[in-house]
Amino acid sequence: MHDFVYRDKNLYCEQVRVEDLARHFKTPFYIYSSKTIIEHYLKLKAAFREIKPLICFSVKANSNLAILKLLVDKGAGLDIVSGGELYRALKAGCPSKKIVYASVGKREDEIRAAIEKEILFFNIESHSELETINRIAKDLKKRVSVALRVNPDIETKTHRYIRTARAEDKFGVDFDSAEEILLKQDAFSNLRIKGLHIHLGSQITTGAPFVRAISKVLNFIQYMAGAGITLQHLDIGGGLGIVYDKETPQTAEEFARRVMPFLKRTKLKIILEPGRFIVGNAGILVTKIIYIKHTPYKNFIIVDAGMNDLIRPALYGAYHKILPLSKSKGQPSKISRPEAGKNQKYDVVGPVCESCDFFAKNRRLPELKEGDYLAIMGAGAYGFSMASNYNSRPRAAEVIVVKNKIHLIRKRETYQDLIRNEIIPKL
Ligand code: LLP
Repeated sequence: MHDFVYRDKNLYCEQVRVEDLARHFKTPFYIYSSKTIIEHYLKLKAAFREIKPLICFSVKANSNLAILKLLVDKGAGLDIVSGGELYRALKAGCPSKKIVYASVGKREDEIRAAIEKEILFFNIESHSELETINRIAKDLKKRVSVALRVNPDIETKTHRYIRTARAEDKFGVDFDSAEEILLKQDAFSNLRIKGLHIHLGSQITTGAPFVRAISKVLNFIQYMAGAGITLQHLDIGGGLGIVYDKETPQTAEEFARRVMPFLKRTKLKIILEPGRFIVGNAGILVTKIIYIKHTPYKNFIIVDAGMNDLIRPALYGAYHKILPLSKSKGQPSKISRPEAGKNQKYDVVGPVCESCDFFAKNRRLPELKEGDYLAIMGAGAYGFSMASNYNSRPRAAEVIVVKNKIHLIRKRETYQDLIRNEIIPKL
């Protein structure tokens, strides 16, 4: 579900014709639909209304302040993984008691800042981290709430780079270690272990792995209750899949129907950490065709966005739909250059000097010509947030549409931005 639709052969974001934005802002740029973002958040909230979870949007999926603020204003909390994300969360006005902080490698300065801001809790990923947080908490004379991230050893059908809950993955602690920690928690004088956390991975399209993991965790919680240990929170992470191509992911309602019966039986306060589900299909990357090149082996459409703007195809072989901003044909190109034939197969590639700099391989596309604009769909999550300056390419602008209004929410970087922190030493 999203608000990018064709009207009169032109792609619109809500009430705005995307091609008008492309001419105004130049390409490449990201454009988000505020309506889609809010609707996705509200869908999840409604699906789980019976248990009123705290929905903490996963900042890493899209960390633009304007988007964080949009969600925070609707009551969302935020799931963070670094000092930088803490900084953003607070700048976006998120109440600190709605911030949860995961990461296998939290640094001391990051921990200190989060303790000082009194976030809701840390999701702890190792015994050493517990010791470190306890030591810093003592130093700051604070009592700190934490949840233990357990690794439920669950297989998920997703790309191997984004699954996180098998025994061999680096995340969380196994159940035996969790038991040991919970039984010895008095050793951590300044910590309160208040709950458990799981996160199975990302782009998971079915409910079964969640059900398996949640059952395992709830059995463990019951077992620990037998030993006199009671917990108050269960953070079930993020990971809900979306449609990029032909996936048929569970809806928020279906997901809730699968997992709520288990969650309702407990008195635990439930936390969700969705990222992709909320923003994935709420954003597109707009790019312009620079050249069309035919070789004896392939046809290439070379666009002005690159893997530095959207790395998902290069990194995970991820599929993103590619649509023309305008379906109208027949306007002759000003410069006489080769045009793409009808429904030929193309590799859509960027200008970066790497063969993995592609957005599509052997993709059948409609008739296109140099200068045409394309939309790379489903780019709202892990798009801009994973962008880089590779090949000294300034990062793209970001724009949000609110009904018929357009707001620039991140200026395109300049060449000065590229070298801002560089120093040539006097030798
Ligand atoms: N909670 C934790 C602890 C996480 O590590 C993540 C994502 C989330 C929540 C949100 O997951 P989501 O609902 O968005 O699936 N760059 C990859 C995805 C990496 C996900 C990392 N962790 C991609 O482009 O597919």
